[in-house]
Amino acid sequence: MRLETDFQDLRPPRRSAPSDYAPGYTDSPCPPYYRLPPTTTAVPPPTKSAMFTPLPPTSHLSLAHRIVLAPLTRNRATEPNLCPHHLHVQYYASRATAGGLLITEATCISPEAVGYPSVPGIWTTEQADSWRKVTDAVHAKGGKIFCQLWHVGRISQPSFGTHPFLKRSGQPLPSVSASNVQMVHPKTGKPLYTTTYQGREECAVPRALLLEEMPRLVEDYNHAARHCLAAGFDGVEVHAAHGYLIDQFINDGTNQRTDKYGGSLENRVRLLNEIVGSLCRIMGKGRVSVRLSPTTLVNGRQNQMYYATRCSDPDLVYPHAVRSLNQYPLAYLLLTEPRWSGRDDGNPGTDQEFSKPLSNSKYRAMYQGTLMAGGGFTPATAKAALDAGVYDMIAFGRWYISNPDLVERLRHGHALNVYERETFYTSTFEGGGAEGYTDYPLLGEPLGRYRTMEQVDIGRSRKSGGGGGGGQTRSKL
Ligand SMILES: Cc1cc2nc3c(=O)[nH]c(=O)nc-3n(C[C@H](O)[C@H](O)[C@H](O)COP(=O)(O)O)c2cc1C
Repeated sequence: MRLETDFQDLRPPRRSAPSDYAPGYTDSPCPPYYRLPPTTTAVPPPTKSAMFTPLPPTSHLSLAHRIVLAPLTRNRATEPNLCPHHLHVQYYASRATAGGLLITEATCISPEAVGYPSVPGIWTTEQADSWRKVTDAVHAKGGKIFCQLWHVGRISQPSFGTHPFLKRSGQPLPSVSASNVQMVHPKTGKPLYTTTYQGREECAVPRALLLEEMPRLVEDYNHAARHCLAAGFDGVEVHAAHGYLIDQFINDGTNQRTDKYGGSLENRVRLLNEIVGSLCRIMGKGRVSVRLSPTTLVNGRQNQMYYATRCSDPDLVYPHAVRSLNQYPLAYLLLTEPRWSGRDDGNPGTDQEFSKPLSNSKYRAMYQGTLMAGGGFTPATAKAALDAGVYDMIAFGRWYISNPDLVERLRHGHALNVYERETFYTSTFEGGGAEGYTDYPLLGEPLGRYRTMEQVDIGRSRKSGGGGGGGQTRSKL
C-alpha cells in the first residue's frame, strides 16, 4: 500500500537555488517554512555536532563521521546462487561516503543459516567474489564496509532445505536452534508464521543443535569470515540480535539446554563468546563487531519480544553479554534501541516509535569500546545522543533506504525522501529488483513517485489527526 500523501509540492528548493538558504533571504518564491531559518537552524551547523567529527583515536575503528548504514535485509540476491549483483554494487556505492561506515544486509554464513527468500550468502567462492565488486565500489569512494554475519536459527523452516542450491550443498540444512522450542504467539501459544519460498508457512519445531555440532557451527562463522577477508570487507558484524540463532542461545525462553551452552548466564553467552573470540583471531583488531538487542522488564514484561523470543532475566543476561565483550578489541558494539517493531512503520509522520525515549543508554557504563545504536532515530535525536556522548555512532535504517545521500542531507538539514514500506523486502524470487532499492532520488533529482518530508516532521503527527507538529506538518500524514 502506498501512502496517499503528495509531497511533491513540499520538497525543498533544489541545490541550484542556494540563495534560498542564505541568511536574511526574504524574497523567496517558497513559503518561509521551506527555508532553514538563518539563526535558529533546525539542525545545528556541522561544527557544533559530534555527528560530523571523527571517531576518537582510542577507537579501534577510524571514521570521519558518525552516521552508519544499518544492516538491512532487502532480499534482492540472485537465484538460485544467492549472490549480490550489479544492483547491490549500485545500492551500496551510492550510500558510501569518505570515512563513513556501511554495514551490509544480514548475510548467511551457511545453507543452514538461510531463512528468507533471496537473501545473500558468503559461504561459496562465487558469493565472496560477487561481494568483492561491492567492497571495491565502496572503497573507491573512500568508505568502509562490514559484512553482517547471519544465522537465523529457528526462524528458518525445513522447506528451505528443498531450495535447489541449498539442497545440493551437501551441508546441514534448516531449521536448528538452541532447543526444540517452536516460535509461538506469546499470548495465544499458537504457532507463528514466517515467509518462505512456499509462501507464508507455520513455524515448525526446530531441531536442537547437538553439543558435538557446536565446533562445526563456530567453524561456519570462521569460514564465512575468511570469505569476507577474500571479498575485501573491512570487518564483520556478528548478528547476535533480534531473536536469531545467537539470541536464541542468550534468551532462556528459547534456550533450555542443560549442557555448557544453557542454564547459567555464562553458559547462555558462551556461543556468542566462542564465535566472537574465534573471529577476532581470524580478522584481527578492530575488524569484528557485534549487534545485540537488549530488552528489559517493564512491570514484569519484556519491553520488546523479537520473534517471540522470551526471556525471564533480560536485565541480567544482556548486561552479562555486553560486559563479556569488553575482552575483545571490537570495532564497535551495535545495540538496537527497541523502537522499531516492523509493524507500524508505514507512515513516518505518525510513527510514534520515533518519539520513544532511549532504553539502552545504561550500557554505556558497561561497555568500554565504541558504542553504536540503531532503531527509531530521527536526525535530531541522533544528534542529541551523539552530542550527549550516549552513543558514538548512529545507524540509520529506513531513512538510509530512501536517501542514498542521507549523510549530506543530515549535514545540511535537507528534507528526506520518504521510504516506501511495500518494497522493503520484494525478493528476487517474487520479481523484486531496482524498484524501491536503487531508484530513490538524490537531492535535486526528480522525485518521480516518491515524496519528501522535512526532518522536523518525523513522528510529529498523531494518527488521530490534529497534527501535533506545531503547524509545520502540512501533509496528510
Ligand atoms: C527493511 C529492513 C530490513 C532489516 N534488516 C536487518 C538486517 O538484515 N539485520 C539487522 O541487524 N537489522 C535489520 N533491520 C533493522 C535495522 O537495522 C534497524 O535497526 C531498523 O530499521 C530500525 O532503525 P531505523 O529506525 O533507523 O529504521 C532491518 C530493518 C528494515 C526496515
